[in-house]
Amino acid sequence: MASSHLKAEPTIEIQRNIFTAREKTTPVQIALTGLSLAFEQRPVLSDLDLDLRFSRLGIVGRNGSGKSTLARVLAGLVAPSSGKATLDGVDMYADRRAAIRDVGILFQNPDHQIIFPTVLEEVAFGLTQLGRSKRQAERDALDTLAAFHKSDWADVSVATLSQGQKHLVCLMAIVAMAPKTLVLDEPFAGLDIPTKAQLRRYLHLFSGAVIHISHDPQDLKGCETVLWLDKGRIEKVGTGPDVISDYLTEMTRLGDDDDISDLPR
Ligand SMILES: Nc1ncnc2c1ncn2[C@@H]1O[C@H](COP(=O)(O)OP(=O)(O)OP(=O)(O)O)[C@@H](O)[C@H]1O
Ligand SMILES: [Mg+2]
Repeated sequence: MASSHLKAEPTIEIQRNIFTAREKTTPVQIALTGLSLAFEQRPVLSDLDLDLRFSRLGIVGRNGSGKSTLARVLAGLVAPSSGKATLDGVDMYADRRAAIRDVGILFQNPDHQIIFPTVLEEVAFGLTQLGRSKRQAERDALDTLAAFHKSDWADVSVATLSQGQKHLVCLMAIVAMAPKTLVLDEPFAGLDIPTKAQLRRYLHLFSGAVIHISHDPQDLKGCETVLWLDKGRIEKVGTGPDVISDYLTEMTRLGDDDDISDLPR
């Protein structure tokens, strides 16, 4: 599995480029203006309005509440039916070049993200998208793997990895691109306890802004602001502890019912 040319330790310099001290985090402004999205006439996001600056923004909500759909809109992967979403004033759907440079999205399902046979190719791909030569992209991808202490994964076939390991590959691929904003859709799903702890530490150090989506509020403890989506609408937005407390109360109440997850009507 290990490959001989990957033994060198990462330089501190490179690690600093990807993960700098948290105090240096640059906040990003998110603005949603009358944002709606329907799939085949079924409303999934309905008239969302929001304007705030954040370093760590959590998004919670029940299954089917529209969290992943909002993530895709923010990353510019899907167009709203009406209204607009911007990050630092940029509509990522309208400006694909900015989207590739400024937003890294981690999909909920890594199989929707991975397209290359080996870990190194997967991590290097985004870097070529940023205009780096194949050689430089591979060098930078190796540095990222080293920063995550995963140098020996470089030549591994992605298909042979577990689901949690694939998730980590996807995360390394987007972190390597050093975007201004990371949009993480259930990043801890399927990860074991030590890997989750490691990932939490890395995310804490990530110098860009992070939008962290989870249906588990425990995951969002480090978020200064939390947005609660319910049936495609903003139920509440405010400080992390405030929103999480109300969300937990409501989820506990609903847990006493038999309803599973609502489909949009
Ligand atoms: N491509 C699509 N075509 C049709 N409907 C879709 C599509 N993508 C999502 N939906 C619907 O939109 C609603 C919201 O889905 P979304 O995946 O955004 O929810 P979620 O909050 O991320 O849920 P989960 O917690 O289960 O990940 C769901 O009812 C889903 O069926
Ligand atoms: Mg989802």
